Amino acid sequence: MVDKVDKVDKGLPGKRVNLVNFVNLINLILRLMKRIIITIDGWSSCGKSTLAKQLARELGYVYIDSGAMYRAITLYLLRNHVDWTKHSAVKEVLKNIKLEFISNHKTGQTEMHLNNENVEYVIRDLLVAEKVSEIAAIPEVREFAVAQQQEMGKKKGIVMDGRDIGTVVFPDAELKIFMTADNGIRVQRRFKELYEKNPNVTIDEVRANLEMRDYIDSHRQVSPLRKAEDAIELDNTNLSERQQFDMAFQWAKASIDGVKPNV
Ligand code: DC
Repeated sequence: MVDKVDKVDKGLPGKRVNLVNFVNLINLILRLMKRIIITIDGWSSCGKSTLAKQLARELGYVYIDSGAMYRAITLYLLRNHVDWTKHSAVKEVLKNIKLEFISNHKTGQTEMHLNNENVEYVIRDLLVAEKVSEIAAIPEVREFAVAQQQEMGKKKGIVMDGRDIGTVVFPDAELKIFMTADNGIRVQRRFKELYEKNPNVTIDEVRANLEMRDYIDSHRQVSPLRKAEDAIELDNTNLSERQQFDMAFQWAKASIDGVKPNV
């Protein structure tokens, strides 16, 4: 009798573990089947792309850096000496611009290609950063970029970061995150990133550029940077990358399950 009870008792935890594994597997399959759109907007150098890439990797989604599109257009206009104060001239040359995100098999990252040239690194230059907000404020440029962004989201299963993704590009996205961080921290992060590529860059230059871009991005007439009413605000000033990811991943899982994220 004791033997039998023992056997039954010993058997239960194993069965429970199996059942838990099975339920987890079903949940995972359901999650993979139901693909959603996740938008991440916010100020410059808030760590949007870091979080977006991590979420996309974990969920098996596509990551799209919408800022790279505005940067590539800026590079094209600079290289071709286009006077961007004349919007009709800009509209005309947009016809010659082909933008593609192509996966780099070595790094596993998607990279921006402009007319078949990999420009992923050039577009991060301060020369481009100095002009990109002005160019991103041109209505014709936004129309051109937004149409392509919406096309990329048609199949869902996408994480896109930018400034107007939750408000204009995908107003019906299932999960919207709006990122903020202390200004000083953002300047330090951006400086570190740029300094690794160009040791001549100064912290004052970086601060000035960040402040200017934030101002133009949030004051332009078309699609200014603002938090969508239904976006979750994530201030990562005092969060590690891991903590930030864990929070956002819980929100993503809840959104996929159709449940309101527990913020
Ligand atoms: O995210 P980023 O710093 O690479 O963006 C570059 C510029 O492009 C930024 O100054 C604002 C603009 N931008 C935008 O207006 N809308 C977006 N969806 C993404 C970026």
